Amino acid sequence: MDAVSVIRTKRDRGELSDEQIDWVIDAYTRGEVADEQMSALAMAILLNGMDRREIARWTAAMIASGERMDFSSLTRPTADKHSTGGVGDKITLPLAPLVAACGAAVPQLSGRGLGHTGGTLDKLESIPGWRAQLSGEEMLSVLDGVGAVICAAGDGLAPADKKLYALRDVTGTVEAIPLIASSIMSKKIAEGTGSLVLDVKVGTGAFMKTIEDARELASTMVGLGTDHGVRTVALLTDMSTPLGLTAGNALEVRESVEVLAGGGPADVVELTLALAREMLDAAGLRDTDPAKALADGSAMDVWRRMIKAQGGDPDAPLPTSREQHVVTAPSSGVLTRLDAYDIGIAAWRLGAGRARKEDPVQAAAGVEMHAKPGDPVTEGQPLLTLHTDTPERFAYALEAVEGSYDIGAAGTDFTPSPVVLE
Ligand code: URA
Repeated sequence: MDAVSVIRTKRDRGELSDEQIDWVIDAYTRGEVADEQMSALAMAILLNGMDRREIARWTAAMIASGERMDFSSLTRPTADKHSTGGVGDKITLPLAPLVAACGAAVPQLSGRGLGHTGGTLDKLESIPGWRAQLSGEEMLSVLDGVGAVICAAGDGLAPADKKLYALRDVTGTVEAIPLIASSIMSKKIAEGTGSLVLDVKVGTGAFMKTIEDARELASTMVGLGTDHGVRTVALLTDMSTPLGLTAGNALEVRESVEVLAGGGPADVVELTLALAREMLDAAGLRDTDPAKALADGSAMDVWRRMIKAQGGDPDAPLPTSREQHVVTAPSSGVLTRLDAYDIGIAAWRLGAGRARKEDPVQAAAGVEMHAKPGDPVTEGQPLLTLHTDTPERFAYALEAVEGSYDIGAAGTDFTPSPVVLE
C-alpha cells in the first residue's frame, strides 16, 4: 500500500477500501504518511465526500489508533454531550453538574477555543486553582466521587484525530462533514460513554451554516454512535445569535453560576434543561426532573464539589477586566439581529480566544450583551460592554461589532428564532 494510490482513489471519486483506510490512518499516526500527503487526501475527501461505510471505517481506524477508556466500574449510567461549537456556548458548565445531580455519571472531555468559538477548558481555567489536566485515575476518581468531571482528553485518546485535526485546521479542510463527524465521534466512542447527546449548532456562529448541512452532520454522527453501541441523539440548535448574555471566559463562568443558582438568561436555561432531559432519557433515568435540581440547589452542590475536586476555589472572586468600553444603541426600537459570528470575533479580538493553539487567553476578556433579539432598546442605552486587559484591542474589536446588530423601528413585529430548532 502507498499513500499516493490512496490519494488518487479519492481524487478520482472512488471509494476507499477498508484496507486503504486502515492503512492510511495507521501509517499517518506512525509518521509513515507525511502531512502533505494526508492534507491532499483530506482535501480530496472534502471535495468528493465519503459514503457511510467509508466514514464508519475511518472512525473505527481513528478509535483504534489509541486507547479506549473504561467506565464499567461505575455504578451510575454514563451520559455525555458534545456541542459542535458556538459563541457564548457555556452550556457544559451548568449541564454536567445538573445531569450528575439527577443520577448520571458525566465524563466530559472538553477542548480549548480556537478562532471565534470559545472552549470549555479556557472558561473553567478562569477559576483560580482549577486544573484541566487529570490522569486517567484522577478522572475516574472525580467521576466516581462527584458524578461529573470536565477535563482535557489525554494524549492516548484517538491520537490520529489529534494529528489530523491540527492538519485540517491549517489546510482549509475542517468543513468536511465526513471528517467532522469521524473526528468528534472517534473521541466520544473511545471515551467510553454509554450515551451521548449531540448539540449540533446551526447559523452564522457555527461550522454548519444551513439546517440541511446540520441535519446531515447530525444524522451521520448519530449513525456512527449507534453502530458502536452508544445510545446517541442529536438536537439542532440555533447559533445565529450568541447564547446568553456573555461571550468570554470568566464572563461565561459567572453566567453559568447564575444558572446553577436558579437564575440566568432564559435561552441558556432552556437549552441546559433540553439537553439534560435528552441525556437523562438516553441514560435510562426517566424519573428525575432537572428543573427541580436547578431550583433546589443540588446541581450547584455538585458544581462546587466538582470545581474543588479539580483544585479550584468555587468561592474565589473571578477575574475582572482592567478596561471596559460601552457600545450604545444608535436609535430606539427593537433589536432584530445580534450576529453570533461578529460577537465571537469581537470577543476573540479582545483576548478571550487565541490565534494559534499555543497562545494564552485573557480570563477576563469578552463581550457582555445588554439586549438580545426581540428586546426593545432606547437610543443611548448600553448595548454591549467590551472587556479586555489590553485597551489597544478595542479598535479592532469595534470593527467586528460595527455591523453585528440591527435595530428595527419601535413596534416592529419580530419573533426571535427558537433555541431548539429540531
Ligand atoms: N470538533 C472536533 O472535534 N472535530 C472537528 O472536526 C470539528 C469540531
